[in-house]
Amino acid sequence: MRLRSIVSIHKRWLMIISFCIAFASCIHLSFGQERKIDNMFLELDKKYRMPEQWSALPFELEDPYKRIKNGPPLVNIVYKVNVEWLSRWIANPKKVVPNAKMPALGLGFDEIQAVIVFLSSIAEKDVPQVAWDDFLLKKEDDLSEDEYDKMDKVYNAGKGVWGRARCTICHPIKGVGGNVGVGPDLGEITTKINRNWLHSWLGNTKGHFPDTLMAQYRFTDVDVRGLVEFVMRDTQFIPEEKDEETVADAAEPEIKVLTEKEFSGIRNDTALIEKGRGIVEKARCFVCHDIKGIPELMPVVERKRDGLAGFEKVLYDIRCLTCHRIQDKGGTYAPNLTFAGSKMKMDWEGEFLQSPDIIRPLSQQMPKFNLAESEAKAATEFIEKNLLFKEPLPDFYKEGPPTADIIAAGEKLFYEKGCNTCHAENITKGGGVVGPNLATVGDRLQPAYILYHLKNPQQANPQGVEPNFGLSDEEMKQLVGFLMDHVKKKEGK
Ligand code: HEC
Ligand code: HEC
Ligand code: HEC
Ligand code: HEC
Repeated sequence: MRLRSIVSIHKRWLMIISFCIAFASCIHLSFGQERKIDNMFLELDKKYRMPEQWSALPFELEDPYKRIKNGPPLVNIVYKVNVEWLSRWIANPKKVVPNAKMPALGLGFDEIQAVIVFLSSIAEKDVPQVAWDDFLLKKEDDLSEDEYDKMDKVYNAGKGVWGRARCTICHPIKGVGGNVGVGPDLGEITTKINRNWLHSWLGNTKGHFPDTLMAQYRFTDVDVRGLVEFVMRDTQFIPEEKDEETVADAAEPEIKVLTEKEFSGIRNDTALIEKGRGIVEKARCFVCHDIKGIPELMPVVERKRDGLAGFEKVLYDIRCLTCHRIQDKGGTYAPNLTFAGSKMKMDWEGEFLQSPDIIRPLSQQMPKFNLAESEAKAATEFIEKNLLFKEPLPDFYKEGPPTADIIAAGEKLFYEKGCNTCHAENITKGGGVVGPNLATVGDRLQPAYILYHLKNPQQANPQGVEPNFGLSDEEMKQLVGFLMDHVKKKEGK
C-alpha cells in the first residue's frame, strides 16, 4: 500500500468534481442561463485538490507523527528499565516523567506486580552486553585519581557530542527545553535505564522502536560511549534531592514500589503471569503498545521498510519530518521544505546538511547528524529535483548578474527601508539579529526565491515577522541584485 499514490486519490476527486461541475452546468444550461460554476463546487475543489504548486513525489512520504502505536514496544522492556521504575511508572506515569503521555490506568499494586511479571515472561532478547573499562562501572567516589581522569575524558567528549547533537531540541530536562515537543523528559533518566541499553539505543534506535520519532544519528562507537558516560553521570539526569521537609509534608501517600528482590521471588509464578496477561488485555495496553502474545483487536498494518534507499532512507533514519514539513506531512518546528529545491542553492545545502551552521540566530540550530557525504548528496539531489514549485519562479536575473548601479541602489534601499533593524548584511557592519544574517545570502538562496520572499514574506512563512513592505518591481529588482551579490568571497568587504 505504501506506493498507493496520492495522485490517484487526487484524480478520483477531480473526476467527481468535474462530474459535479458538468452536472451543475447542465442544469444551468437547461434553464437557458449563462454557464456559471457554483461557488460550492469551487470550494469543494479547493479543499480536495492537492495544492496545485506541489510536484508529485516519486514515493509516498511517511508522516512520523501518524504512527500506529504511540507507545514503544513492550517486548523487551525488562532489559531496558528496572522493575522499581516500572512499578512506579505503571502506577502513575506523570509522577515519574513530567511530560508523560501515558494515562494513569488506576491499577493496584497487586495488579501492577502481575503485569510486570507477565511483561518479563514475554522478553525475547537482552540488549548486547558491551565491554566497558572496569573504571567506567565504578561510582565516582571509588575511582582512583588516575581512573577519574580517564573517566573524565570520556565524559567530556560525550558532553561535546551531546551539545552538537542538540538532544535538548527534542528532550526537556526537568521541564526545560524540548521545543520540538516530542521527546520524554530526561531529567531523571538515570533512574530508568541501564548503560548497555543506552549504548544499544543510541547506536540503533529503530532496532528497539521501528516507529520512533528520534533521529538515528551517525555516531561512531567513541561518540556513543562518550554520550553514555555523560548521560549516566551528569547530575542533570539524576533526580534533584528533595529536602526532608517537603518529603515529610507531602500529603499524598507514597506509591508502593516493587523491589528487585521481591520481583526475583515471583517472576516465575505461572499463575501470576496468567493473571498479568489478563490485566494487560483488559487494560487495553495494546491500543498504544505492541505487546507480543496479546491478541490484537486492532489490525496492525506493518510498515514495509526493507530496501529503503537514497533520500527515502535518509528521511526515515534521521526522521527529518519530525521537525520539518514536506507537503502535508511532518512537523512544524523547523522551516518547511516543500519548496526547498526552488529556494536554496544546492552547494550550500550539501555543506549545510553535513555540518549545519547557524542561519537564524534567535531560533534553534539544526542538530549535527553526521550525515555521510553520500547521504547529503542523495538528499540534495532529491530536493533539487523534486521539492520545487511546478511553475518556475520569476527571476530578474536569468540573463545575467546585476550591474554595479543596481547593487548600489539596492544597498541604499536596504538601509532606507530599515531591513538592517532585523538583518545584518555584512559581518563587520553589524545589524539586527531577528532575521537571518544575510552576509552570504547569495550563496544560500536562489535570486528568484529572494524575489518571491520579498513580494510577500508571509507567503513563504505564514508565521514570519518580516513586514510586507509593498515594494515596487524596481525596488525588488534592486534589493534582489544587492542581496544576490552577497557571496562568500566578498564577506566582510
Ligand atoms: C528529533 C527529536 C529527538 C532528538 C533530536 C533526540 N531524541 Fe531522544 N528520543 C526522542 C523521542 C521521541 C523518544 C521516545 C521514543 C519515541 O516516542 O519515538 C526518544 C527517546 C530517547 C531515550 C529513551 C528515553 C526513555 O525514557 O525511554 C533516550 C535515552 C534518548 N532519547 C536520548 C537522546 C540523546 C542522547 C539525544 C542526542 C544525541 C537524543 N535523544 C536526541 C526524540 C529525540
Ligand atoms: C493511551 C495509550 C496507552 C495505554 C493504554 C498504555 N500506555 Fe504505556 N505508554 C504510552 C505512551 C505514549 C508511552 C511512552 C511514554 C510517554 O510519553 O508516556 C508509554 C510508555 C510505557 C512504558 C515505558 C516504555 C519504555 O520503553 O520506556 C511502559 C512500561 C508502559 N507504557 C506500560 C504500559 C502498560 C503495562 C499498559 C497497560 C496496563 C499501558 N502501558 C497502557 C501509552 C499508553
Ligand atoms: C531535530 C529537528 C530537525 C531535524 C530532525 C532535521 N532538521 Fe533540518 N533544520 C532544523 C532547524 C531548527 C533548522 C533551522 C536552522 C536555522 O535556522 O539556523 C533546519 C534547517 C534546515 C534546512 C535549511 C532550511 C531553510 O529554509 O533555511 C534544510 C535544507 C534542512 N534543515 C534539511 C534537513 C534534512 C534533509 C533533514 C533530515 C536529514 C533535517 N533537516 C532534519 C531542525 C531539524
Ligand atoms: C521585523 C524584522 C524584519 C525586517 C524589518 C526585515 N526582515 Fe527579512 N526576515 C526576518 C525574519 C525573522 C526572517 C526569517 C524568516 C523565516 O525564518 O522564514 C527574514 C528572512 C529574510 C530573508 C531570507 C528568507 C529565508 O527564508 O531564508 C531575506 C532575503 C530577507 N529577510 C530580506 C529582507 C529585506 C530585503 C528586508 C527589507 C526590505 C527585510 N528582510 C526586512 C525579519 C525581518
